[in-house]
Amino acid sequence: MRPFPLEPDRAAMADMGGLVLDRIVDRVEQLPARPATSPLSPEATADLVKSFLAPPPARGGELKSLLARLDEAADCALETAGPGHLAYIPGSGLFTAALAEFYNRATNRYGGLAAVAPAFAALEESVLRWMATEVCGLPAGSGGLLTSGGSMATFSATVAARHDRLGEDLATGTVYTTAFAHHSVAKAARLAGIRAAHIRLVPHTPDLRMDADAAAAMIRADRDAGLRPFLLVATAGTTDSGTVDPLPRLADLARDEDLWFHVDAAYGGFFRLTARGRQRLTGLEEADSITLDPHKTLFIPFGTGALVVRDLAALHAAHDGTGSYLQDMGDAGGVPDSARLGPELTHEMRGLRAWLPLHLHGTDAFRDALDEKLDLAEHVHETLSRVPELEVPHRPDLSTVIFRVRPADDVRAAAERADEASRLLLERINAHRRVVLSSTVVDGRYTLRICVVSHRTHHDRITEALDLVTAETARIAAGDVQGR
Ligand SMILES: Cc1ncc(COP(=O)(O)O)c(C=O)c1O
Repeated sequence: MRPFPLEPDRAAMADMGGLVLDRIVDRVEQLPARPATSPLSPEATADLVKSFLAPPPARGGELKSLLARLDEAADCALETAGPGHLAYIPGSGLFTAALAEFYNRATNRYGGLAAVAPAFAALEESVLRWMATEVCGLPAGSGGLLTSGGSMATFSATVAARHDRLGEDLATGTVYTTAFAHHSVAKAARLAGIRAAHIRLVPHTPDLRMDADAAAAMIRADRDAGLRPFLLVATAGTTDSGTVDPLPRLADLARDEDLWFHVDAAYGGFFRLTARGRQRLTGLEEADSITLDPHKTLFIPFGTGALVVRDLAALHAAHDGTGSYLQDMGDAGGVPDSARLGPELTHEMRGLRAWLPLHLHGTDAFRDALDEKLDLAEHVHETLSRVPELEVPHRPDLSTVIFRVRPADDVRAAAERADEASRLLLERINAHRRVVLSSTVVDGRYTLRICVVSHRTHHDRITEALDLVTAETARIAAGDVQGR
């Protein structure tokens, strides 16, 4: 036994690295064959969870058997990395991003202050500038911050908006969004000190978009009542249905009413790399701030969000802070300190896991993958629209298609029976474990959703999903409604 086992020698490092790499290559290669949901029974899951709650031993173990344990834990999960993951907003995780991350963790550069590792800070800044200007269409000089996810991006945007528009008097500040906004929008407002009662849900039009006229009326009524409307949050790709709010109209409204305009484009933003996405997300370039989630539609592993802002000074003003222990830190050639733009001081170098895949594969590869998702969603919409027992209420703006069992007629009891049938349909589709779909509520009705985002989901898996949906719908329509 070496005296200091925390630092393995060269041969040991190569052996251990090889073992991990072999396992990962096997796992990635096997992804198409893996079940889309965990194959373990609830009892087996509970036992496994319990076994992982054990504390670490005083004396170390063997890597091979510990990796086998990790495999057991990884298998006890939704297969979020696989091609059958069509639930929620999938986040698949590029292999090349994992390689970048290994490099990142092993070099372990400090990311809070740019002067500590200026070239890595510049690399991260280049990713942010690309997202701000080329993806979102913000003007040169815009930038932002890589965050742990969309929720933290929206939080920092809300804090910046609050600081810019309300100063320190928060009591009467009001925020406007819709019932289809992700719950992180209301959470961010509350965390930023805004009263829950001052978070307004603007009604939506029948096509599930924010009603801009209603928003205008609410803002004016609140102002007349002595409140201080300061933030309008639109969604570019709702989680429920992938719908894009009317961004140009809302941008005009925010400008006319002097509100900060934030767009939650966590799901939709990167579709602007495609021609269709650019057209459907027109108006994004008018925003003051935008939430993006590279761990969704840029296929980067979980833990990678982004906030881009038109005016970096506003983000800086809201988050700046320092201490005398930092007095030795110099400037890094104009590259901003991430610590001065968000709540964290120590900041992991999230940029590497986007930079390496973007430079290795080129941006066209991402555009093509996202174009493929838009094509697949159109195919899903067309195919399901031809199934008479299903209702497919909206053409997808992006890559999410919603559908449900059609009620026999217009009475309430029929809608309730249809909701029950939709619930059973979801359960039966997922029971095959080839794909996993999720559900939501739209217009008060239980609604299934297929969300195509994974870079590993291609036509073959979508065909399989559609075959399952149509076969299980036919089974239920034929009166087979007992159990699975
Ligand atoms: C539209 C939208 N905004 C924000 C979020 C929250 O992002 P995160 O989970 O990265 O915090 C999600 C997550 O699915 C989302 O779909």
